[in-house]
Amino acid sequence: MFDIPDDVSYLNCGYMSPLMHSVAAAGEAAVRVKQHPWEITAPDFFELPNRGRELFARIIGAAWQDIAVIPAVSYGTAIAALNTRVGAGQEILLLQDQFPSNVYPWLEKAKESGGRIVTVPRPAFGTPWTPAIIDAIGENTAVVALPHCHWTDGALVDLVAVGEVVREANAVLVVDATQSAGALPFDISTVQPDYLVAAAYKWLLGPYSLGFLYVAPQHREGRPLEQSWAGRKGAENFARLVDYQDEYGPGVKRMDMGESTQFHLMPMAIRAMEQILDWGIENIAATLMEKTRQIAERAAGLGLASLPEELRAGHFLGLGFTDGVPDDLPEQLAARKIFLSVRGESMRITPHLYNSEHDVNRLFEALDSVLGRQRA
Ligand SMILES: Cc1ncc(COP(=O)(O)O)c(C=O)c1O
Repeated sequence: MFDIPDDVSYLNCGYMSPLMHSVAAAGEAAVRVKQHPWEITAPDFFELPNRGRELFARIIGAAWQDIAVIPAVSYGTAIAALNTRVGAGQEILLLQDQFPSNVYPWLEKAKESGGRIVTVPRPAFGTPWTPAIIDAIGENTAVVALPHCHWTDGALVDLVAVGEVVREANAVLVVDATQSAGALPFDISTVQPDYLVAAAYKWLLGPYSLGFLYVAPQHREGRPLEQSWAGRKGAENFARLVDYQDEYGPGVKRMDMGESTQFHLMPMAIRAMEQILDWGIENIAATLMEKTRQIAERAAGLGLASLPEELRAGHFLGLGFTDGVPDDLPEQLAARKIFLSVRGESMRITPHLYNSEHDVNRLFEALDSVLGRQRA
C-alpha cells in the first residue's frame, strides 16, 4: 500500500508519514481537477472540507460541527490563545520540552496578559508524568496546554484524569494531538478538552500544510483568526456574496483558515483518514505496541533504556543511551537506509503498519555494527 523499497527501513512516522499509493492517487486526481475549472461547482467548495471534518471528528469521537480546517498546529493553538482569558499572575501550564507550536502562542499570551508560564518537568525515569501535572494545577491555573504523548519519547499523559482536574480548576485544556491522533485511541467525551489540534502529515497519514482543530461547543462563538467569506452564513450562494453577513455558518466554520476547501490537499487527507478508520485505531495501536515492544526488548539487550509500556504510547519508542545519543548515529543509520530521529535526549523510533520484522532486523544489525565500532 506504500511506496517503500525493500532496502529502506522507515521508522520515522513521528517525523512525517509516507503517503499511501491510494492517497498519492487522490492527490494526483485532485491536481487534475483544476485543469477543468468549469467542472468545479459551488457545493464542491463546502462538501470537500465537510467530509474532512466528518472523518477527523470520527477519529477523535467528536461531531463534524466541532471541527475547523487549519493549515498548521500553530494556527490552531493561536485560535485557542486568542479566545482564552488569562489574568495577570495566572498560570499557563506546559510540559518540559513540548513541541514549540503549543509553546510559542502561550509565551506570547503570558507576555500580553501578565500571566506566568509553569513548566512541569519530565519526571524521574520510569515514573509517570500525570501525577506531577495534576499537582501543578491549582486555582491560579488558567490554561493547561499539552500533548497526549510527548513528541520526543512517547511519554503518555492520562488526559482523562488531567481533564477532570482542569475542569475543577475552571481552566482551559488545549491538547496537541499531532503525535497521537490516528494511532492512539482518543475520546473527546471522556477527556473534554476545550481545544484539540492535529496536523495531518504524521499519524493521520495525510499531506503537509493541513490540519484540524476541535473546538468545544462552549467556545463555538469565539473569535476566528481571520474573516473568511466561506465561514459566513449563506456563503454557498456565490452570486450573493456581496450581501455581507454578520452571522457565521454552522458549527465552528468561522474558525476555518481562508480557502479551507484545500482542493488539492483535502482529498488526500480524506482518503488517508478513511483508510485509518477502516483499519481501526484500536487495531493500529495494538499492532504498533507489539512492534515497539519487540524493538524495546532487543534494545534493552544493547543497554538502551526505554519507558515501560504503561508509561508510553504504543506507537512511540524513545531509546536512551547512558552517555547521550552518539552525535552522528542518525546519519550513520541513514547511510544504511534506516531512518529515525533524535529528539531531545531520545533516539526516537516511530513505526507504522508498513514496518516489518525485516526493518527491525536491519535496525539491530546496523546498531550492532555502528555502536560496536564506536565502543571498540
Ligand atoms: C507534537 C507536534 N505538534 C505539532 C507539530 C507540527 O506543528 P506545525 O503544524 O505548527 O508545524 C509537530 C511536528 O513535529 C509535533 O511533533
